[in-house]
Amino acid sequence: MNMNLSLIIRNSIGLFAMSLALAASATEVAVAPVLDRSGLPSLGETWLNGNPYRGNPRAVEVGQSAYKQSCARCHGDDAGSAGGAPAPDLRQLNRYCRSIANPVLQAACMADNDQYFKKTVLQGKTVVGVVHMPPWKDVLIQEDVWAIQTFIESRIGGSGR
Ligand code: HEC
Repeated sequence: MNMNLSLIIRNSIGLFAMSLALAASATEVAVAPVLDRSGLPSLGETWLNGNPYRGNPRAVEVGQSAYKQSCARCHGDDAGSAGGAPAPDLRQLNRYCRSIANPVLQAACMADNDQYFKKTVLQGKTVVGVVHMPPWKDVLIQEDVWAIQTFIESRIGGSGR
C-alpha cells in the first residue's frame, strides 16, 4: 500500500516535470528580429554601461520593430499597453527611478536600471529549471537591446504608467 502510494507520487512528479519541460521548450524560443538599423549610431562590440539612445527618435522606431518581432508575444503589444500579457509590463521597470526628484540620484537609479535591463535580456529568466524568458545574448546586438529599451520608455505616460 505504502509502496504503491510512493510510486504513484513519484510518477506524477515525473510527469509534471516533463510537461513543464515540454511546455518550456515548445514556446520559449528567442526569435531574432529582422531589422533595418540605418540611421542608428553603431556602438561596437563592447557593452556600454548605460543606454546611449535615450530619447533618440530613430532608436524608438528600430526598437519598436524589434520589440514587435521578439518581445510583444509575451510582454504585450506596444510595450504592455494591450493588457493580459503573460509577462511583466516593461514600462514599470524604471517607475521608481522616475519618482526620484534629485537629478543626481535619479541618474544613478537609471544607470542601475539600464544594467538590470541589459543583464536580464541577455541572460533571460530561468526559475527552478523552467525557462520563463529565453536568453537573447546570441540573438540581439547591443544596438537592438538599447533601442528596445528606448522604445519601451517612449510608451510611458498617457495611461498613467
Ligand atoms: C517567451 C516569452 C517571453 C519573450 C518572448 C520575452 N520575454 Fe521578457 N520576460 C518573460 C517573463 C515570463 C518574464 C518574467 C520572468 C520572471 O520574473 O520570472 C520576463 C521578464 C523580463 C524582464 C525583467 C522584468 C522585471 O520586471 O524584472 C525584462 C527586462 C524583459 N523580460 C525584457 C524582454 C525583452 C526586451 C524581450 C524581447 C527581446 C523579451 N523580454 C521577450 C517572458 C518573455
